[in-house]
Amino acid sequence: MIDVKLAPAHRRFRADVLAGLALPRKRLPSKYFYDAAGSRLFERITELPEYYPTRTELGIMRRHADAMAARCGPDCLLIELGAGALTKVRLLLDRLDAPAGFAPVDVSGEHLREAAAVLAEDYPALAIEPVVADFTGPFQVPEAPDARKVVYFPGSTLGNFDPEEADALLRRIARLVGPGGGLLLGVDLRKDPAVLERAYDDAAGVTAAFNRNLLVRIDRELGGDFDAPSFRHVAFYDPEKSRVEMHLVTDVARRVRVGTSTFAFLPGESIHTENSHKYDVPELAARAEACGLRLDEAWTDPRDYFAVLYFTAA
Ligand SMILES: C[S@@+](CC[C@H](N)C(=O)[O-])C[C@H]1O[C@@H](n2cnc3c(N)ncnc32)[C@H](O)[C@@H]1O
Repeated sequence: MIDVKLAPAHRRFRADVLAGLALPRKRLPSKYFYDAAGSRLFERITELPEYYPTRTELGIMRRHADAMAARCGPDCLLIELGAGALTKVRLLLDRLDAPAGFAPVDVSGEHLREAAAVLAEDYPALAIEPVVADFTGPFQVPEAPDARKVVYFPGSTLGNFDPEEADALLRRIARLVGPGGGLLLGVDLRKDPAVLERAYDDAAGVTAAFNRNLLVRIDRELGGDFDAPSFRHVAFYDPEKSRVEMHLVTDVARRVRVGTSTFAFLPGESIHTENSHKYDVPELAARAEACGLRLDEAWTDPRDYFAVLYFTAA
């Protein structure tokens, strides 16, 4: 198990929160949704009737997993970014030809360890090396000098990054896998804004609880007094930026303490907590190409809601 030290992660969390709340338009990085409770809430989101992405991506994987595994090729080292519950990857692992190993990477350490332990029971012959790390920073993957590296990056997690950050991540992936290596990427596509907005604001309020979990974490881990339930969950589609934005809004003026710092909120002021960019396949393929990744094959569902794309690094 490769693990980043807890103390630096905690310091980074505090520094990012204090910096984000000091911005003229308050903003917090979405990766901090995911402690053990946040990961469990995300798993519940994936089962909601309104949340079509997981179901749709799984359907595409089920239909085309043979072709995807063939693209990955024999003896590959599979690296999954933002691995979560390790559900989708099973469809690939069932079909890969003698994989050299599997390295799931996620910031949510406890959740990753549990998911990897369950996977290890079901795939006893597979060399599984979970990596608890932020994939936007440096992280180690297992040594496998002769194996072709393939990154699996499902769940449209790429969409949580602004276009420039997403391009930087695609360039890093191209460098990580090296020439001839692969990227199997799952991305959510543009569609009716009403469908998108329902997916991020479900009737049961699970997405709202997931969003507020960020404030719950700040209160617990950084000595804050946000009082998460008093912030309203807001999600809307911005067609110009082609993204769903999630916010937490206070209806009243207030002062919030985080450790020894205090932040003032005006009535109606929001904290921007997440972006989920929605893609168009040709546009994304052109951007990936500029980052050193050539699109080889694209699979979608009958409604064109979601796409899984295979790229080769130049
Ligand atoms: C949208 S969920 C997707 C989960 C899963 N891959 C799926 O397709 O259902 C995003 C996942 O990425 C992880 N994550 C988000 N940002 C991350 C980062 N910067 N570094 C590592 N993991 C991250 C979260 O903990 C979470 O498990």
